[in-house]
Amino acid sequence: MAKVKKIFVCNECGATSPKWMGRCQSCGAWNTIVEEVVVKETTREERSRLWKGNDSAGKEAEPIPLSEIQTGNTRRLPTPDAELNRVLGGGIVSGSLVLIGGQPGIGKSTLLLQLALQLPVRILYVSGEESEEQIKMRADRLGNNNPNCFLLTETNTAKILSHAQKIAPDLLIVDSIQTLSSPHIDSTPGSISQVRECAGELQRFAKQTNIPVILIGHITKDGAIAGPKLLEHIVDAVLQFEGDRNYTYRILRTLKNRFGSTDELGIYEMQAGGLREVSNPSELLLSQTDEELSGSAVAATIEGMRPMLIETQALVSTAVYGTPQRTATGFDLRRLSMLLAVLEKRGGFPFAQNDVFLNLAGGIKVDDPALDLAVVAALMSSLQDVAVPADTCFAGEIGLSGEVRSVNRIEQRIQEADRLGFRQIYISKYNTKGLDTSRYKIKIKTIGKVEELYRQVFE
Ligand code: TYD
Ligand code: MG
Repeated sequence: MAKVKKIFVCNECGATSPKWMGRCQSCGAWNTIVEEVVVKETTREERSRLWKGNDSAGKEAEPIPLSEIQTGNTRRLPTPDAELNRVLGGGIVSGSLVLIGGQPGIGKSTLLLQLALQLPVRILYVSGEESEEQIKMRADRLGNNNPNCFLLTETNTAKILSHAQKIAPDLLIVDSIQTLSSPHIDSTPGSISQVRECAGELQRFAKQTNIPVILIGHITKDGAIAGPKLLEHIVDAVLQFEGDRNYTYRILRTLKNRFGSTDELGIYEMQAGGLREVSNPSELLLSQTDEELSGSAVAATIEGMRPMLIETQALVSTAVYGTPQRTATGFDLRRLSMLLAVLEKRGGFPFAQNDVFLNLAGGIKVDDPALDLAVVAALMSSLQDVAVPADTCFAGEIGLSGEVRSVNRIEQRIQEADRLGFRQIYISKYNTKGLDTSRYKIKIKTIGKVEELYRQVFE
């Protein structure tokens, strides 16, 4: 009978200690230590031998000069999904371990099953979450068919890896890391030591066989990938699938990528027959009304590397209760309070007696300071009940003294607005250095201070 051993593991850094503590001694984080039960521990060599079926423990790595290392065998497997390629930096790198995180029901399984059905290579799709029939039903719904896509419903890593050895796929997909359990460790699936152990086994498998592995990971309520932070250190790339479940748009973001940029972003739309790539996001994020309505303004933003025009909507109404309400969807509430304070102080706009609601179209969360100018225009427009002229958009950051500051990659923003048929764009007057305005059809108007905006736009 194996001896039952209890250890305490830090959720943040993975450090272990023999007793519970309020604060991790290793990383200093508070309240991150949880109890884990470990029964048997096999050595790393034994584990890799178990699934390899032979003894590889004798092979040791030797130091080699950097110049002699050949990079020829890190191939990239391009996928038919242009958005995924973009996010991964040009395809799936052989031998890499990629983690895709996201909230339940956002479409992680759909994304990867769709990939498995479209990619014309040998694929092993392992699911510990759904039954074969459920997956088959989903595959029928997605419509594609890949005769080389194999399905396995299994949660034991030793069995999964031995099947993977036999089938020798070009890509291994595992849904999800939290359902896996390793026979070498006796904690429950989803616990820190299990997640870490299973990820470690899959990582060794990927590195030794050069077969890329994509893992699905669940996300906790506060947005972190469930399991230890350590998981993010083990894998080569971490992608996050996000979006508002009430809307159809989904964003695939890179949080970490050892083989490419983390500035990339993929956009999808969830439809009845699966996820559709959105190559032109602006057209979706602008509302399709012909009428000029007060309270809305279009911002020329950049998310990741992509320019997008997004509509911001504000509603300013007389406060019913003593303390006025401020609500923002898709925009930082503190930033909204700051903008309101600047407008109040610099422009004398009476927001203190008003409720303010702010909304970004499409349920997309954007983190770009250039949104400020459009938000301010929308707020003024709603407060005074005058519409922003049609075909007008904005790109500028607002400083605390009410100055309109320059934003990065202004040419790209102007170009996108021009391409979509906007007639005028307001930018910071400090943003015009080296800008060749004659290249664009769109009229470029400059602004120095936020109080000038009202006069320029609405009068
Ligand atoms: P799913 O991939 O199961 O989410 P996750 O694996 O992240 O938990 O996606 C579930 C949602 O996607 C579900 O609510 C139904 C919706 N969906 C569609 O709208 N169209 C489709 O073609 C499919 C397969 C799912
Ligand atoms: Mg799923």
